[in-house]
Amino acid sequence: MTFTAPIQLPGLTLDPQWYRKSVFYEVMVRSFVDSNGDGTGDLGGLIGKLDYLQWLGVDALWIPPIFSSPMRDGGYDIADYKSILPDFGTIDEFRELVTKAHERNMRIVIDFVINHTSDAHEWFQQSRSDPDGPYGDFYVWSDTDEKWKDIRVIFVDTEESNWTFDPVRRQFFFHRFFSHQPDLNFNNPAVHDAVFDVVRHWLGLGVDGLRLDAIPYLYESDEGNGEGEPPTHEFVKRLRAMVDQEFPGRVLIAEANQWPQEVVAFFGTEEEPECHMAFDFPVMPRIFYSLRSQSAAELERILAETVDIPEGSAWGVFLRNHDELTLEMVSEEYRQAMYGWYAYDPRMRSNIGIRRRLAPLLDNSRAELELAHALLFALKGSPFLYYGDEIGMGDNIWLPDRDASRTPMQWTPDRNAGFSTADPGKLYLPVIQSLVYNYNLVNVESQLAQSRSLLHWVRNVIHVRKSHVAFGLGSLEVVSTNHDSVLAFVRDYEGSGAPFGGDAAESILCVFSFAHNPVSVTVQLPEHAGAPLYDLFGGAEFPTVGEDGAVTLTLATQSFYWLHIGTPRRG
Ligand code: BGC
Repeated sequence: MTFTAPIQLPGLTLDPQWYRKSVFYEVMVRSFVDSNGDGTGDLGGLIGKLDYLQWLGVDALWIPPIFSSPMRDGGYDIADYKSILPDFGTIDEFRELVTKAHERNMRIVIDFVINHTSDAHEWFQQSRSDPDGPYGDFYVWSDTDEKWKDIRVIFVDTEESNWTFDPVRRQFFFHRFFSHQPDLNFNNPAVHDAVFDVVRHWLGLGVDGLRLDAIPYLYESDEGNGEGEPPTHEFVKRLRAMVDQEFPGRVLIAEANQWPQEVVAFFGTEEEPECHMAFDFPVMPRIFYSLRSQSAAELERILAETVDIPEGSAWGVFLRNHDELTLEMVSEEYRQAMYGWYAYDPRMRSNIGIRRRLAPLLDNSRAELELAHALLFALKGSPFLYYGDEIGMGDNIWLPDRDASRTPMQWTPDRNAGFSTADPGKLYLPVIQSLVYNYNLVNVESQLAQSRSLLHWVRNVIHVRKSHVAFGLGSLEVVSTNHDSVLAFVRDYEGSGAPFGGDAAESILCVFSFAHNPVSVTVQLPEHAGAPLYDLFGGAEFPTVGEDGAVTLTLATQSFYWLHIGTPRRG
């Protein structure tokens, strides 16, 4: 397969706001392409698919950990922060990936796991065997497991406590995640130095951003619940100051699975900034709730609650990622409703969430897949796609834990879905062979050959979004409608003011119907009385907003419009 890429000068465009205009794509190196036939995806394979990602319209890759690791938590159990797991490739291949991505004006964001390491990390091995040595105080040790009872257990399916007894040191160590992932002790300044050293290492190699994994959990205290405690924010501020000074233009992205008011703290303030971006965990489950409840109310409520963020910062919006679809940010009543709709088989559940991919969650409904993506690309923030969702890949709930949705990317109907030439039994995980999502049917090659495929649709919507800067930089204001199933908002951008090459002002009306039947809806746009509306996809003119500021639209079952709001025709 070859892709015709647009001609472009080598190197990145110098745009300090790049992350606010970018479409991100989460790609697990292990799962994407195996270039050496050993059954595991690798950096060489990913490099070979950069043309595909550029064709799709991706601006930045988010790469989960590729470091040395026993791989007991998908690589989030790091044994050495500076070396790459040989299965995935070499440091030279990583450099090549950065260079080749930059040549395509594509950025590279890597995962940065600093809350904990693997217990196989040399620091932990020394800490447990030599309490008085240089690493003795690198982890959180205690003679009792009774401390900090208010700190919740996150992996409730596997862990009963945040403390595990270490038979070597004969003390308990603290861990927010698996018991093989001891938490680093951020009360120790030497840990800060070690973390800064690793940040400098990777940013020095040209990485454009870091996803700060599990960032709320750095510090614990007797008074708090171990989530976003004041010293954690102090640390992130210092990290940001260092990055701004030594690596301007690189970004920090917070993974903070919390309520809007708490996540927003990770942006810091304009005087004392923390992260450039934070994932929007509260909005994500509400997209899925709206699709089944046929009600826009929960989304409207959370969008109204989403607090202001400092100038220059951005949300990261997503539908799915490599983890379970977390339901921590919804009430018990809504959670039970979501389990009923989306995880009717107990095997579909994991911790407090659902371990399924996007297409199976939406029962492969094309209307719902389009509606969900239309929201993803229109909400305030930068969209993050998960590899394979652009072709509607399926999952395998018979695999353990979150591996259910980390199976090999499906490229062709050939052996191993074109992912690898290895003996099928040697693959790190089997390819999907289910009735509906079998790789014979669902793969990039066949979708490229069908002009109406999901892949072509997703690519088109990405390109439409990217040609309207209001989606990336504009404000979002929910507007009222007379139908419970319809969400409407206006994305408004005032323009950059720059005479040449600046971004133009624009207002876009976005309307989404969650109803399972066609509807007619009246939308209130008092500020745009008399304005003509034009469809962003085909340019067709829609009904003009009345002089009373109202416009009535009809929407097909589970459908949406993105409409350019023109200048009112008066007189
Ligand atoms: C990652 C998970 C991982 C956990 C522990 C998370 O936030 O996204 O995949 O299991 O951190 O490292």
